Amino acid sequence: MTIQWFPGHMAKARREVQEKLKLIDIVFELLDARIPLSSRNPMIDDILANKPRIVLLNKADMADAAITKQWISFFEQQGVRALAIDSQAGTGVKQIVATAKDMMKDKFAKMAAKGIKNPRPLRALIVGIPNVGKSTLINRLAGKHIAKTGDKPGVTKAQQWIKVGKEMELLDTPGILWPKFEDEEVGLKLATTGAIKDAILNLQDVAVYALRFLKQHYPDRLKERYSLDDISDDIVELFDAIGTRRGCLVGGGTVDYDKVAELVLRDIRTEKLGRLSFEKP
Ligand code: G4P
Repeated sequence: MTIQWFPGHMAKARREVQEKLKLIDIVFELLDARIPLSSRNPMIDDILANKPRIVLLNKADMADAAITKQWISFFEQQGVRALAIDSQAGTGVKQIVATAKDMMKDKFAKMAAKGIKNPRPLRALIVGIPNVGKSTLINRLAGKHIAKTGDKPGVTKAQQWIKVGKEMELLDTPGILWPKFEDEEVGLKLATTGAIKDAILNLQDVAVYALRFLKQHYPDRLKERYSLDDISDDIVELFDAIGTRRGCLVGGGTVDYDKVAELVLRDIRTEKLGRLSFEKP
């Protein structure tokens, strides 16, 4: 789903997240493992202030595993705990609760020292930009399928807590934040990975960006997928080559560039070119 973010929406989204922060002990900041920087809210440090947090690199199943490892070291060097997860399959999800408990143990020890015998469960909030997998992770942590959350900033409903085992509670509505739109490359990466729906950006522009990226970073996969002997530096020639090989043609046998763009983006998003990471630390 696509949200049009205007300054008013952003201010409201920020206020809503800040309201929720008052209720919780720890934040799970959900990022797309393929694009950890581009899927990050530009004001996140400001918004979260000193709240403890864990960075979750979601959709790690679709990202280049070696690069995801580099990202985890990158965040940990900055003193931020980070985990690679696949919310859809559940890989790495158990680690979240264990890590959160470990991070909060001092706080709960203090409560125990004050004589609070049955400390309440740890309370957590998931935040992230649209389509990063917030609802999927909530369902996964809840262990059953709960109602799809309203994905619109400004749509408020009563806060409810979802029990995650005995020791954690999760706010049932995630904090929805905006990505860094000002940067054109961020928009192109979000579109390439499918976080932004196609209607917003020109499909061919996105595919041109993606193909140039693949040519530079994953040339062998590109050659193999589209049976190319070499990859032309001329982007039109490259579109022509792929279109001809894959039958993206219009009447008279000329290549239909929109079809080529659609095909390439669909192939990327469905892992036909394998696991890809579009950003390195
Ligand atoms: P949101 O609440 O943050 O907006 O995201 P949501 O959970 O709706 O997830 C967006 C899409 O990403 C969903 O695909 C979901 O299945 C997929 N997804 C979430 N986590 C993971 C993950 O760890 N790995 C993989 N491979 N996919 C994940 P969808 O329902 O098919 O949506 P769409 O394709 O129609 O956008």
